[in-house]
Amino acid sequence: DGAAGDGGGFARVGDIVHEGLHNLEYRGYDSAGVALVGEASGLTVAKRSGEVDNLTVPDVADAALGIGHTRWSTHGPPTDENAHPHTDCVGDIAVVHNGIVENHEALKAELSDHEFTSDTDTEVIPHLIEEELAAASDAGDLLDAVRAVESRLEGSYAICAVREDDDRIVVARRGSPLVLGHDEDATFVASDVTAFLEHTRDATYLEDGDVASLSAEGVEVYADGELVDRETETVTWEADAAEKGGYEHYMRKEIHEQPESLRQTIAGRLDVDAGDADLDTSFPPGFLADLEEIQIVACGTSNYAGRYAAQLFEDLSGVRATVETASEYEFGAGRSADRTLVVAVTQSGETADTLGAIRRANAAGARTFAVTNTLGSTVTREVDDTAFIRAGPEIGVAATKTFASQVATLAMLAVAIGRERGALAAADARPVLEGLRDLPGAVQQVLDNEDAVREAATEYGDSEAFFFVGRQLGVPVALEGALKLKEISYDHAEGFAAGELKHGPLALVTPETPVLAVLTEGGRADETMNNVTEAQTRGAPAIGCVSAGDKYATLDVSLPVPDVGVVEPLVANVYLQLFAYHVANDKGRSIDKPRNLAKSVTVE
Ligand code: F6R
Repeated sequence: DGAAGDGGGFARVGDIVHEGLHNLEYRGYDSAGVALVGEASGLTVAKRSGEVDNLTVPDVADAALGIGHTRWSTHGPPTDENAHPHTDCVGDIAVVHNGIVENHEALKAELSDHEFTSDTDTEVIPHLIEEELAAASDAGDLLDAVRAVESRLEGSYAICAVREDDDRIVVARRGSPLVLGHDEDATFVASDVTAFLEHTRDATYLEDGDVASLSAEGVEVYADGELVDRETETVTWEADAAEKGGYEHYMRKEIHEQPESLRQTIAGRLDVDAGDADLDTSFPPGFLADLEEIQIVACGTSNYAGRYAAQLFEDLSGVRATVETASEYEFGAGRSADRTLVVAVTQSGETADTLGAIRRANAAGARTFAVTNTLGSTVTREVDDTAFIRAGPEIGVAATKTFASQVATLAMLAVAIGRERGALAAADARPVLEGLRDLPGAVQQVLDNEDAVREAATEYGDSEAFFFVGRQLGVPVALEGALKLKEISYDHAEGFAAGELKHGPLALVTPETPVLAVLTEGGRADETMNNVTEAQTRGAPAIGCVSAGDKYATLDVSLPVPDVGVVEPLVANVYLQLFAYHVANDKGRSIDKPRNLAKSVTVE
């Protein structure tokens, strides 16, 4: 996340940028850096892995502008070299960047005579700017160079660039946020207004495709090469709310971030035309062909993501897949270690129970794999191979966006393994990949329908208990929906396979026990609805997440889910997240930090 300030009259630009980074630390904190530009001092860069406090900002008295960054790694572990800003060969251009440059490998191949010092996708940007400037007949213009480079980048990004002997910061955005701030003495730009809220509340939000230059003379914003006017608005949030993007709780912010976090998850990993997915894995030759079993080990929400994935592994990869509660896991007799893949699903990468399971799998000689959100986490050091879910930092204790990104990542892994094994035809993979491609938009449609869930939460939130049901891919989502509700509302909630209702739980059903059902593709909706009707007959109100076009007229509340194939239950889950949130919020619960729970459970 970038913060930058064009100090104009300030003597201490470095301090302002440093302060801005502190304000953004909640968004990512595995390394930090700054680049300062002064007329006499030229370009000074300092960067460090670790928290923002680890960074000593150089005392550059004549710095008139500066950029800074606090990193949440997506490519390359958190090291000093991988920290931003990144520079070109000569060292007179510095860039900070949020997002992912999907085509960085192709671009890097073009820059074969450039020396790279990091593992990041970002580093291609200063080198490309350097090439553009070198190709110009005169010294070149930074704004023109950034414009030319950004038209070549694929993916989502927000960029800030500075150059020695240039009194401007040039910025560009596509897909990742950038906001300008204005006060009498200075101009600011950051990924989030929180970075500069103590200086100014006058903010201009840039739009996708905008390129802007900031200098003591003011700001110029260009769209498609034309100078444009972007409105300035006054931010009325307090800093605490601004950190939450104007939301009252991180959890709701993170629920709403899912279209963007899912976009990051799938970026550059889907090839719909070829019917394949690429997670940059490194299985030894022949390993997948001989694979007999995939064992997923995980806890809590991650375990439910694993249950979703196990069904996809069986359907798409043609491999038997089991899910184990990590704290119960033993590598059982009768299994062939060299033909078993053990997959740890853990957003933190630090869950002691999951690490314990991985250690037992390693000891048995199985190949191990991690699906995690956290670069450099313990699990990544203990497994043979890792896929990152790229959801960005999650602050709310209740996992939301990481669940969605875990399932999406595991679905891509299932396709990749299926294709590699020859168990899945391109034509059969394509609808799954199309569903993943359309997932961010589908989740957005659900978010746009939040009022309907809020109303349902208000109407039914005071019930005695809540039952969540589904079939097939709807089962893990029912389990997750119940877990979310119990965690943050402290109400009793249970999730189970819809067919099980009649085998016991029906005894508990009354008009005071609403049933929430996943009635989508991948979840045998008609049969599930039969079970829901059995509960309704006993007086229970029923709320259904229903595939678009399907109508179950007897439902008390029907929430439409866009048509995205096997990931429809994952989209339905967003309704259940919102339901839990609003029930808990109506009760005034401590949503981001529920009692007795911790974000990272490092004890067994
Ligand atoms: C529920 C929740 C927990 C975690 C579990 C595993 O909202 O967050 O159930 O899913 O503690 O954590 P990770 O994924 O970090 O291993």
